[in-house]
Amino acid sequence: MNNDYTVLGIETSCDECAAAVVRNGKEILSNVVASQIDEHKLYDGVVPEIAARLHSEWIQNVVDQAVLESGMALKDISAIAVTHKPGMIGALLVGLSFAKGLAWSLNKPLIAVDHILAHLYAPQLQWEIPYPYLGLLVSGGHTMVSLMRSYNDIEVLGATIDDACGEAFDKVAKHYGLGYPGGAVIDKLARTGDSLSFRFPQPVLKNSRRSLDMSFSGLKTAAIWQKGQFLKSGKEDNLENLLASYQKAIIDMLLDRLSRAVAMTGIDNILIGGGVAANSYLRQHLAQMDWNIFAPELAFCTDNAAMIAGIAYHYHLSQNYADFDCPAFSRVGDFRSVPQKAK
Ligand code: KG4
Ligand code: ZN
Repeated sequence: MNNDYTVLGIETSCDECAAAVVRNGKEILSNVVASQIDEHKLYDGVVPEIAARLHSEWIQNVVDQAVLESGMALKDISAIAVTHKPGMIGALLVGLSFAKGLAWSLNKPLIAVDHILAHLYAPQLQWEIPYPYLGLLVSGGHTMVSLMRSYNDIEVLGATIDDACGEAFDKVAKHYGLGYPGGAVIDKLARTGDSLSFRFPQPVLKNSRRSLDMSFSGLKTAAIWQKGQFLKSGKEDNLENLLASYQKAIIDMLLDRLSRAVAMTGIDNILIGGGVAANSYLRQHLAQMDWNIFAPELAFCTDNAAMIAGIAYHYHLSQNYADFDCPAFSRVGDFRSVPQKAK
């Protein structure tokens, strides 16, 4: 008997229209990502309405290509998996409706995947990482340090209480006219700057729920409107210096929370994911730590459908299927969280 299971995954939660076919949660047979970045660049950010419309125009071709490249026939696919949360609701609905239609017409099971759990599974496509591990998810929409006990058992140790760190990069880049997405541009420009020119204070979170929570909106405001206050004497007020110092302030906060998570849990297997995981300052500093870091190649840090099809294999094994009336949700799921911080 053949015990292989091959899942078709679909991802449309933001501005990547993606489909992939993955065998047994690991073996990537195809991984197609059609990025809409060029269409959103004009607006210096993702426009939800444009994203949803483009997904509905592209999804059929993207799925067709993923199936073709996988060498599989649709009838031999074991299940159809799709991101149903969190994300932009219009964009999510395109992928979800398409997946439902496909699963229904093929009489295959439908698997609804949480995008955050999928990002935190993505490195499992490249390595065999034993649970438990710590996950740092840093993207344009999310910033979270979590303890993963299995593919779907997550405990949030800390998260942003306002902007996501990727958004903090994007908004500052937008203000200084550097284009979208801003993280990669800031990363590049910061390499020629002096990160010790501006001393941005690390936010103090007195009323947050968890001691590992983070905040980026004050830093963003400081970098845009109050930078003069933070310039150190004798240092030059130029854009590269500002961006290098700003990047350092953001990444230092992530590194601080990770250090505290390691101290709190005693776990030093750390996996990173999300677009900001591409940041060279972050990767360089993580490499200097005495931790086991699993930093996937960029294609598996950013949005893709291989991570959706990969994690869905485990849902398929336990026959954890979605109903055809499964809704899409824009917000992050109600994950378990470390106990409330004492006031
Ligand atoms: O995971 P992702 O592709 O999409 C979602 O937000 O889900 O992440 C995109 C984010 C953007 O905010 C972008 O500015 C940021 O990742 N990013 C970076 C770098 N490359 C992309 N941030 C910092 N440094 C980078 N090298
Ligand atoms: Zn994502």
